[in-house]
Amino acid sequence: TDVNLKDKAADNFFVGAALSTNRLTGGYNELLTTEFNSITAESEMKMRTIFAGPSDYNWTRPDELVQYATENELNIHGHALIWHEEVPDWMRTFTGSNEEFEMIIEDYIKAVVTRYSDKITSWDVVNEAISDGGGIRNTIFLEKLGSNYIAKCFQWAREADPDVLLFYNDYNTPADLAKQQDVYALIDDLQANNISIDGIGLQMHISIDSPTRQEIQDDVDMALQRNLIIHFSELDIRVNPDGRQMVSSLTEEREIAQRLKCKEVVDIYNDIPEAFKYAITVWGLRDPDSWIINHHNRPDWPLLFDDSFNRKSAHIGFLEGL
Ligand code: XIL
Repeated sequence: TDVNLKDKAADNFFVGAALSTNRLTGGYNELLTTEFNSITAESEMKMRTIFAGPSDYNWTRPDELVQYATENELNIHGHALIWHEEVPDWMRTFTGSNEEFEMIIEDYIKAVVTRYSDKITSWDVVNEAISDGGGIRNTIFLEKLGSNYIAKCFQWAREADPDVLLFYNDYNTPADLAKQQDVYALIDDLQANNISIDGIGLQMHISIDSPTRQEIQDDVDMALQRNLIIHFSELDIRVNPDGRQMVSSLTEEREIAQRLKCKEVVDIYNDIPEAFKYAITVWGLRDPDSWIINHHNRPDWPLLFDDSFNRKSAHIGFLEGL
């Protein structure tokens, strides 16, 4: 079969890919435009790229991505306004008052959201604010803006654009139940205080072993109980997880396991009621370009396409889940 991901998912939800602006030509361009109908910037819309200094914005790279997406009629998911990583260096050494810092962040969020208001459908407003094992993550934003900084950030984003979808995005909540509990407690708190939040991004950096189907389903159910739109926002599936003997090439056995895991994830997503679906986004196209390889410092093949842009079994698994 040569049916494409986006065609099979048609009208149901977007199928997206994360890419950087130096990967928008050749095979990347061809895959993106035939298989996908949504794009996320892998790093072009992070603070370190855009925020050159207070009131000083560098729009070159995000503009490039937005222009590409617009020309190719791709939906755009904005990632991410506030994240404790990829903070610009000048911000780490900022010596002004907390009040000044807060104004700078408010300006930043409003400037970015406003600039792309008619181009970008959704934003990850705050990324990864809860720690592994639970508890609010200790970041520069918590330190300088105070314990209700997440609410403030959502409010500023909403003030800048009444219609854009606003997401909280995080990883490993299906398997880390203490973290999961605190993520949903945070969302309960926002909702109880009438802070406008539309959805949750479940990153889905997973492996062939973990989390289980039931764990993913339970996480989805927690989100649905809160009327949140759900984005599987950063899907990749490791075949060399901890606790398994490391393989140095993609074996047939692991390729099959990856295909089944991918089908399982897409299956679960597909079953979400219509009104709460938005997109499944894969975090990259070709295996060798995946961030996972550096991050875990071992070989892996976590994506849907191989070195030569050819479909892997995981791609079939994705189609089977649709
Ligand atoms: C990663 C990108 O893939 C890398 O290219 C970049 O250098 C670091 O960030 N969770 C996220 C993403 O929310 O922004 C991260 O992306 C992967 C983990």
